[in-house]
Amino acid sequence: MAHSQLETLISGQRLRTRVQELGRKISADYPSGPGKHDLRLIAVLSGAFVFLADLIREIARDVSVDFLSANSYGSSTTTSGEVRISKDLDHEIAGLDVLLVEDIVDTGLTVNYLCQVLEQRRPRSLGVVTLLDKPSRRIKPVELAYVGFEIPDRFVVGYGLDHAQRYRNLPDVCVLEEDGPA
Ligand code: PRP
Repeated sequence: MAHSQLETLISGQRLRTRVQELGRKISADYPSGPGKHDLRLIAVLSGAFVFLADLIREIARDVSVDFLSANSYGSSTTTSGEVRISKDLDHEIAGLDVLLVEDIVDTGLTVNYLCQVLEQRRPRSLGVVTLLDKPSRRIKPVELAYVGFEIPDRFVVGYGLDHAQRYRNLPDVCVLEEDGPA
């Protein structure tokens, strides 16, 4: 029987500190007040929901949220490069400052595709904030406005990220090691 081992890569405390820093940066980059524009954070389901929930509470201005879901087809090694939206936004984004919120950018296929789709809807601005970035895996170029942590090419779970829908509730980001048969 195969066993899995979890090794902490980024502790909950480090995540909290970094999310606070990102929230402060975003608050400074998108000031509120008369003549300022609405800020909409769009989380890509499901992985980004934990990060989004923490991040919005570190942003010191009005912010609205929306969610979409995207699936990419093909495995990481045989990726077809095809991405489809399986749950679209509930609200329009024309004229808004928009930040797309990801838990992780890996090949970049998802963010690259979603940015193309969202740009067509004429937001005032569009940026990407990702908690984790695996630049060594990039296939499609993506511009990331805010990155929490750059990580090596390891399989990570926790803080919203899953393996077969498990581990999303872990407070740390952990490397999942699959051992061979015992
Ligand atoms: C993850 C992550 C991104 C995407 C990144 O989602 O949330 O959306 O993969 O990979 P890419 O840069 O190679 O496109 P996943 O498909 O694991 O779904 P989940 O968030 O529902 O777990």
